Amino acid sequence: DKAGHKHFMSKEIAEQPTVVSETLAAYIANDAGGINLPGDGFDFTKVNRIVMASCGTAYYACLTAKYWFEQLAELPVEVDFASEFRYRTPPVTDGTAAIFVSQSGETADTLAALRYCAGRASAILSVTNVPESSIARESDLNLPIFAGAEIGVASTKAFTCQLTVLLLLALKAAHARGKMSDDTLRAKLAALRGLPAIMNQAMAIEDGVRGIAQRLAKSRDALFLGRGVMFPLALEGALKLKEISYIHAEAYASGELKHGPIALIDEAMPVVVMAPKDALFDKTVSNMQEVMARGGKVILVTDAAGAEEASEGVWHTIILPDIDNEIAPILYALPVQYLAYHTAVAKGTDVDQPRNLAKSVTVE
Ligand code: M6R
Repeated sequence: DKAGHKHFMSKEIAEQPTVVSETLAAYIANDAGGINLPGDGFDFTKVNRIVMASCGTAYYACLTAKYWFEQLAELPVEVDFASEFRYRTPPVTDGTAAIFVSQSGETADTLAALRYCAGRASAILSVTNVPESSIARESDLNLPIFAGAEIGVASTKAFTCQLTVLLLLALKAAHARGKMSDDTLRAKLAALRGLPAIMNQAMAIEDGVRGIAQRLAKSRDALFLGRGVMFPLALEGALKLKEISYIHAEAYASGELKHGPIALIDEAMPVVVMAPKDALFDKTVSNMQEVMARGGKVILVTDAAGAEEASEGVWHTIILPDIDNEIAPILYALPVQYLAYHTAVAKGTDVDQPRNLAKSVTVE
C-alpha cells in the first residue's frame, strides 16, 4: 500500500519524521535523562575500540557513526565494507565491540563478517530492521531501528533510523565513559527529540528539489562533495542517485577535490555540495568556489546562514532548517533522497525496482 504515493520510495521518505520519532521513543528513557538499550544493554567502559562492517547505505551509516563515536565517546572506530573485512583477516581482539548495521539483517557479506568476529570480539552488536533476521539472532545485542517494512530497493527511512540508533549509541558510550555530563546528555537528547519536527519542516524543500531534478536529469554525471559528517552523506547521495536514476555519480571528501576529481569539472558537471554552516563550512565553500571557477554547476545544500554567506553564483541552493551539528547528518539525508527520487521520476526509471538490484543481497 503506497498510501497515495506514486512510489514506495516517496512514501518511505515521507514517513521519516514518524519512524524516527518512534525510534527515539523506544530508546530515550521516559524522564528523557538517559538512553535505554534492549535486554541487559551494553557496557561501553569494557571496550577500547569499535569495528564496524556493512554494505551499501548501511556502510555509510557506519561511516557517519565513526565521527560520532570518535568525537563524542573518544573511542577509535574502524569501518570497512563487509565484503573486504571478511577476507582480509583483520585482527579483532578482546576489548573490541563489533557492530554490524543491516536493514534486512540477511546481507551475506555482513553476516559473514559478523561470524568472523564471533569468538574474537568482546561483543557483537547489530543494528537491524528485522529482529528475527540472522544478523539480529547471531549478535549478543540487537538494536532494532523501528523503521517499519522498507519496500523500495533504495534505502531511505532505514538509513535515517540507523543513524538515529547509532547516534544514541554514541551518546550512551560518551556518557558511560565519562566523556559527557548528565546535563549535556540531557540537552542532546532534548535536541534529538526535536528532530522529527525539524524533518517535517524540512520537507518543504521538496517542490524546489523537484525543479532542480528536472535539470539534473539531463546530466550524464554528477559529483557530491562534503567534509566531516557530510562526507558520508555525500557518498549516500551519490549511491542513491546512481541506483535509481542511472546517472553516474561519485562522492569525494571536499579536501580530495584538488587531488584528482577537479579535472572532471566543466560546464556539464553538476556538483552537489553538502555544507551546513558548521566549523568546516569555510573549507567546503572554498572547494565549492574552485568548482565554480571552472564552470561546474553547484547545487549547494545548506542552512539559512550558509545560503546567506555563500549562495552567490551557485546554480541552485537547497536551504534546510537550522539543526545541531551532530544531528545534521540525519536531516541532510532528506535532500539527497529527494534529489535522487525526483531525478529518477523525471527520467522515468523504475524507482522502486531499479534494474539489476535486489532489496536483500543474500549471496555474495
Ligand atoms: O539489508 P542491508 O542494510 O544489509 O543492505 C545493504 C545494502 O545492500 C543496501 O543498503 C543497498 O546499498 C541499498 N540498495 C541502498 O539504497
